[in-house]
Amino acid sequence: MTQDELKKAVGWAALEYVQPGTIVGVGTGSTAAHFIDALGSIKHQIEGAVSSSDASTARLKSLGIQVFDLNEVDALSIYVDGADEINPQMQMIKGGGAALTREKIIAAVADKFICIADQSKQVDVLGKFPLPVEVIPMARAFVARELVKLGGLPEYRQNVLTDNGNIILDVHNLQILEPIALEKAINALPGVVTVGLFASRGADVALIGTASGVKTIDN
Ligand code: A5P
Repeated sequence: MTQDELKKAVGWAALEYVQPGTIVGVGTGSTAAHFIDALGSIKHQIEGAVSSSDASTARLKSLGIQVFDLNEVDALSIYVDGADEINPQMQMIKGGGAALTREKIIAAVADKFICIADQSKQVDVLGKFPLPVEVIPMARAFVARELVKLGGLPEYRQNVLTDNGNIILDVHNLQILEPIALEKAINALPGVVTVGLFASRGADVALIGTASGVKTIDN
């Protein structure tokens, strides 16, 4: 199976967690795009979605799924999204698609985070994938210097502005042995909007696409 077929398998498998008549939290990226397509097949059974990016909003709308502003929504039962890396503790690196801030906000609202990923995203220790950090543009150089003090090698993601008008620093050279502590330390830097480390709030369920089928890890 190709990597995209594995992503498609988990995207469709996530439909099992969608409750009829509800608003669904929807992530961003190539795996989440498969979930959106799957959601389109049951669009008459759901009320709609809240979206973590302009790209996902456009895809949802193109399928006729109503997209709600998060401020109009009191509660979400699930948030479904991909990951760049996921460890055995269900902590993740996210933000390869630059949508980390809205992803983290919606994940915080949802009762359950359903992570959908192909098996290449499973790691023992987070950090091989460069850790995305969304930063207010004027703080770029300062935050980069602080990230070096924390042991990382930040790289400015050229020609990328987030949906919120900010820049991304991708932090290389990390072996994240204490994800919650690092998430807190980076979050505390003035100028940081969001760090793409989903550690204190990880996934509740992971659907992992493997050659022998979709594996479910339920915390
Ligand atoms: C988007 O900002 C990311 O958090 C994605 O969820 C992550 O990069 C996974 O993307 P793919 O599903 O495209 O691999």
